[in-house]
Amino acid sequence: MKWDAELYDDKHAFVFEYGESVLELLDIKPGERILDLGCGTGHLTHEIKDHGAVVTGIDASADMIVHASKAYPDIDFVVADGTNFHFDEPFDAVFSNAALHWIHDADEAIGCVYNCLKPGGRFVAEMGGKGNMEHMIAATQQVLAQHGFSDLAKRKAWYFPSLGEYAGKLEKQGFKVTYALHFDRKTLLQDGRQGVTKWLNMFGPTFFEGIEEKEKQQILTEITDLLQPYYNDNGQWYADYKRLRFIAVKE
Ligand code: BEZ
Repeated sequence: MKWDAELYDDKHAFVFEYGESVLELLDIKPGERILDLGCGTGHLTHEIKDHGAVVTGIDASADMIVHASKAYPDIDFVVADGTNFHFDEPFDAVFSNAALHWIHDADEAIGCVYNCLKPGGRFVAEMGGKGNMEHMIAATQQVLAQHGFSDLAKRKAWYFPSLGEYAGKLEKQGFKVTYALHFDRKTLLQDGRQGVTKWLNMFGPTFFEGIEEKEKQQILTEITDLLQPYYNDNGQWYADYKRLRFIAVKE
């Protein structure tokens, strides 16, 4: 997927703002070597460095890495596929915020994380969990199907596993899951009613590939109308986020 790093920073800052509480779970000790997997525009990577760690950020999007490198030239940022990366020098911890749900082959990703950690090293992450964006996805599928785009409606844009499913994958790879939580977090969308369209344009373009612009705008209006009873809370629009958080230790 092609990312607009500027727009991401401008209108979707909540992604890394919420990530700050995941940083608390990471509990950084000065001097630790930490990998930020799916670092995006690098703001949390920078915070990790500010806590005294030696940090590297990786992301599959070259645009995000260019943006991050410009913003934080003193941090090492590398373009890397989350299912196929390797580092010669092992890390004390791997951190990931709001990135793992983009990786459909979770086993490969977890394997790469495991291999780049020191024994006793930790993997600390937050991602979308089972049921994440359930209303947004259902409304999008319904309206696409009504407009005759049944194939687009069936696209699987993200991977939102249950706690048991992801913990099982971590354990199978050799991790001990020492903390795991699956919880609801209503997430404020930017710009009220426009927020649904903005969110889908930023994160869900795969659903609209090849649809002519005028019809796409109509579809987005209909999706927004369907979501109104669930998302509109006195003029503020909230998405039905469900988060999965965990700490897993390499035994
Ligand atoms: C999330 O953080 O849950 C998310 C972000 C973008 C697309 C899908 C899910």
